[in-house]
Amino acid sequence: MAESTTFLAPITVAITGASGAQYGLRLIDALIAANHEVWVMISKAAQMVIATETDHKLPAQPERLAEALETLARARPGQIRCFAREDWMAPVASGSGASSAMVICPCSTGTLSAVACGASNNLIERAADVALKERRKLVLVPRETPLSAIHLEHMLKLTQLGAVVLPAAPGFYHRPVSVEALVDFIVARILNQLGIEHRLVPPWGE
Ligand SMILES: Cc1cc2nc3c(=O)[nH]c(=O)nc-3n(C[C@H](O)[C@H](O)[C@H](O)COP(=O)(O)O)c2cc1C
Repeated sequence: MAESTTFLAPITVAITGASGAQYGLRLIDALIAANHEVWVMISKAAQMVIATETDHKLPAQPERLAEALETLARARPGQIRCFAREDWMAPVASGSGASSAMVICPCSTGTLSAVACGASNNLIERAADVALKERRKLVLVPRETPLSAIHLEHMLKLTQLGAVVLPAAPGFYHRPVSVEALVDFIVARILNQLGIEHRLVPPWGE
C-alpha cells in the first residue's frame, strides 16, 4: 500500500550558535517521529557548532541541507524544508505563511537579544518576530552561563511578550546515564510546550 505523504502541521525549528546542537537535532528527530512537517533554519554559527560538537557536517545550501536532515532524522521525502539566512520569500517571513509554533533550539544569547529587540536581521530573527506579532507559540532554548543582566532583561521581556524561555538545564532526578538522556530531558520539555505527546522521559510521578 502506498505510504501517505500527509504530515501534521509544520513546526519551525531554528538552530543557532549556542552550544548544545544535539538538542536541536534531536528535536527535529522527535518532530519527524511525531509525523510533523518541520521547517528548519540553521545559522552560520550553528553550522560551526554542529561541526564541533557532533560527527555531522551539514551543508548550508537549503535543498542539500534538507536532504541531509531527512537522512539523519529518517524523514519522508518533503517532510523537512530548509530556508536560507536571507530568504525573505520563505513562508516563515510573514504572518500569513508562518507555522503555528517556532522553537529556537539552542538559542544563542545573540539571537535571544536580537529577537527581544525585534532586529529581524536574518530569517531566524524575522520568523521569531513574526511569531511574536502573530501571538504564535515561540519557545527559546538558551544555553549560556553565567547570565548577564542583558540576557536576563531580554529573557524577562520575551516572557512578558508571551514567548517561553526554556533554558537548556536538564534535571537529574530521572538518573540519566547518558548524554542522550540529558538531551531527551530538554527535548521532552519542548514537546510538552508544543502539546506533542512523547515517551522520551517518564512524566513526573510515574
Ligand atoms: C563552539 C561554539 C560554542 C558556542 N557556545 C555558545 C553558547 O553556549 N551560548 C551562546 O550564547 N553563544 C555561544 N557561542 C557563540 C555564538 O555562536 C555567537 O555569539 C554567534 O554570533 C551566534 O550567532 P547566531 O545567533 O546567529 O547563531 C558559541 C560559539 C562556538 C563556535
